[in-house]
Amino acid sequence: MQNIIIYYFSATGNTLKVAKLYREAMTREGANVKLSEIKADSVPEATEYDKIGIAYPVHGFRTPEIVTAFAKRLKKTGKKTEVFSVKTSGEPLKLNDASYTELKKITEKLGYDFIGEYHYVMPYNMVFRHSDGMAARMLNTAKERVPVHAKAILAGKRTPLSSPVSAKLMSAICLIERPGMKFNGRLYRVNASKCVKCMACVNNCPVGNIVFENGKFRFGGKCIGCARCAFNCPVDAITTGLLNPIKVNGRYDFNSPEDLSLPRYCRKSYRKYFDEDKYSPDKE
Ligand SMILES: Cc1cc2nc3c(=O)[nH]c(=O)nc-3n(C[C@H](O)[C@H](O)[C@H](O)COP(=O)(O)O)c2cc1C
Repeated sequence: MQNIIIYYFSATGNTLKVAKLYREAMTREGANVKLSEIKADSVPEATEYDKIGIAYPVHGFRTPEIVTAFAKRLKKTGKKTEVFSVKTSGEPLKLNDASYTELKKITEKLGYDFIGEYHYVMPYNMVFRHSDGMAARMLNTAKERVPVHAKAILAGKRTPLSSPVSAKLMSAICLIERPGMKFNGRLYRVNASKCVKCMACVNNCPVGNIVFENGKFRFGGKCIGCARCAFNCPVDAITTGLLNPIKVNGRYDFNSPEDLSLPRYCRKSYRKYFDEDKYSPDKE
């Protein structure tokens, strides 16, 4: 029986949903699978696993820093343990294709064998709101594909790792996002007339950047722009500085009837994504 651990970071739940699909599919195949959340200061397990998964949402065409920092804390190994990554993103553009490169470099340097990455499109938590029906269609598409991908991973298959020059360039440019988010985080505000003081934002910020003191919310300089606070605020009371025009608030209803129309933005690449699974065995 293979022992697998999937470390995941999920700001607003999409990546966690996909990671859970992996646990389900791999367990059905007879593996022993554990999910472990990546937190700002979490330390990877000392236990040896046969395979390690790392699941993350694409942030600025890259792996979020909270995830790459965690990967750097993995124990050095001489065993070439296989690592696979799983990512979710709001759009299926090829510009997302190079987001794995930093993770691959880090894990290989530590002695792991990076066997590939699988990509699932899930509803945006920033940029614009997909319809609930589209969110359902995205999740259902992942539900169909994950069992096939999970089987391939368990068999030690590699995914072709392509990263077009445009994607590499875009992800290099987007490195600026990391200091940019720290700066922008200080511009977040809570609208006092809407706020119900549920403290969800304070309690759930993955980097502890939000403090409630003397009756006021204070946003520090550690923000990673993950959108958890603003997305999950039950009364949409949080404004997100320069990113406010592209803020998305409120959970999706993934149980809605599927929306079979396509968004106007990146229409062609959404169509391609739904029509074909680029990791399908038929493609080999
Ligand atoms: C700061 C930030 C940057 C993002 N950048 C991208 C991006 O470059 N490409 C993309 O397709 N989606 C991008 N997204 C959308 C998320 O990757 C997508 O909604 C993801 O499924 C969220 O996963 P989570 O719910 O597990 O956090 C971004 C979201 C945030 C908050």
